[in-house]
Parts: sequence; structure tokens; C-alpha cells
Amino acid sequence: MGAQVLDGKACAAEVEGQLASRIAHLSEANVTPHLAVIIVGDDPASHVYVNAKIRACERLGVRSTHVALPSDTSEADLVGHVEALNERPDVHGILVQSPLPSHMDEERITDLIDPSKDVDGFHPVNLGRLVQGRTDGLIPCTPHGVMKMLEWAKVDLQGKRAVVLGRSRIVGMPAALLLAAKGADATVTIVHSRTENIADRCKEADIVIAAVGRPTMVKAGWLKPGAVVVDVGINRVDDETRERGWRLAGDVDPEAANVAAWLSPVPGGVGPMTIAMLMSNTVRAAETQSGFPGE
Ligand code: GUN
Repeated sequence: MGAQVLDGKACAAEVEGQLASRIAHLSEANVTPHLAVIIVGDDPASHVYVNAKIRACERLGVRSTHVALPSDTSEADLVGHVEALNERPDVHGILVQSPLPSHMDEERITDLIDPSKDVDGFHPVNLGRLVQGRTDGLIPCTPHGVMKMLEWAKVDLQGKRAVVLGRSRIVGMPAALLLAAKGADATVTIVHSRTENIADRCKEADIVIAAVGRPTMVKAGWLKPGAVVVDVGINRVDDETRERGWRLAGDVDPEAANVAAWLSPVPGGVGPMTIAMLMSNTVRAAETQSGFPGE
């Protein structure tokens, strides 16, 4: 028995294909969407993610500016970079890679980004719009990618029970809002570190979104047969059989494939979708700032 693969690479390729005509349309008006990515410090995984974002820009003909700052950069310096990018009319999207070094206040930095350039969708204006049930703004990329994958697999969400594991501002909380929003219409439970009987809550779910950052935490025995399982975890675990000494593991035990109807792989699941939705937000931001009606 094997679950069908929620193929993030294939779905991301479709999303990127649909963006091409919008980028061409902008180009006719001499507008090239432009994303600025700031990274502070030398966390290897964060550099891998940022490089993947820059490569996606190159693939789609989106301009990118990559600002790499040392880990001892002062918060005032970072504020200066964000403010300068806010002022530049040729920059449509600004992303500050998370996590920032511990001497910096991530929320303060997020709050500084011009909401119309906030392609991460983390600014209170953009998250607030989501709370109001308005899903036409800049939506956080990973949860938006999860919703696109579910749509791609034609998963019926209406009235179904969804469990979201994790309540982060980047994934869990916005994913729960999107699943419960009008049009998606799922009944959502948010499971977190203080939740009692987590396995029982998962077992009730038709859809499970795992975003806790704990390798293989969700076991096959926690799942209802036929559940749809989206694994958002990207955890590095030691593996001496690999030359580099580690491999990636999701939040879901691969044995889940014997119980679930659909399961997203790690890697090749949610990761490519996050990048595709970042490109989508960057194009949308360029359209909005250039007076285009958009999609
Ligand atoms: N770190 C992990 N995921 C993300 C993301 O989607 N955006 C940013 N800015 N940082 C991240």
C-alpha cells in the first residue's frame, strides 16, 4: 500500500508556468518584478533556502537583490537596510530570512517592512487581512503553498476535519486560518505543545498539516486511514551513511504512507511550493505597485 504523492515539484512548476504570462505582461509596461532578500549570519540551512529563492527569480526573469550581512550586524544597521529598500520604487518585494540572530527582534523588523512589499505576508496588516477572511492579499508563502497543493490534488476540504500541528506565525497559524476561511470551509483544530492526547486529535482528522519541526513525530498509528497528510517539516538529522553526515527528515514518519491516501514528500513537497508562492507574491506586489489589476 502506498499513499499518492503530493508532488510539490510538479505543482510548483504549474504555479511558476502560470506566472510567466503575468511577468511578460508587466515587462510590456517596462516593469520587472524585483525581490530583495536580506539574510543575516551564516546559518547553512538559511543560506540554502535563500539561494533557492534567488535561483527561482533567475528562472522566472524576476530581478533579485541579495543582501548578506554578518551575524554581528547591529539591529540599527538592519533597520537601515529595510528602510532603504522600502523607499526604492524599483523594489517590489522585501524578505528578511528567519531566523535572525538572537540579538535582533524579528517582530520589530517585520513591522518595519512596507506592507505592500511584504512578500512573506508576515506584517500585521497582511496577517490581519487574513484574520478578516480576506485571502486576496499577500499570504504567507508556506501555508499558501500547502493550500495550492491540496487544490492540485483536488482534496475536498468543505466540512472536513483538519488538524494543524504547530501554531507559528510563519506556518501553523496562517495555515489554520486559510483552512477555515470561507471557500475552504474545513473545521480546524490547532494542536500545539500543550495539547492533550495529540495522537487522538490526529486520528480524528481527514487532513493533517504537520509543522512542528520535530523529525518523524507524526506516526502512522496516529492517522485515520485515507487521511491527507502534508509534511511541512524540514529537519536535518544525523546520517553517517551519507557523505555529508546528515539527511533531511520531515515531521511525519515515512511509514505514514501505508495509512494515508496522500502524503507530501520531504524533500520535494512543501519546499518547492514555498518558493513558487514567494514568486507569486512578488509578481502580485509588482502588479499592485504598478497599478495593474492582477489576476
Ligand atoms: N525561514 C523559514 N521559512 C521562512 C519563510 O517563509 N520566510 C522567511 N523570511 N524566513 C523563513
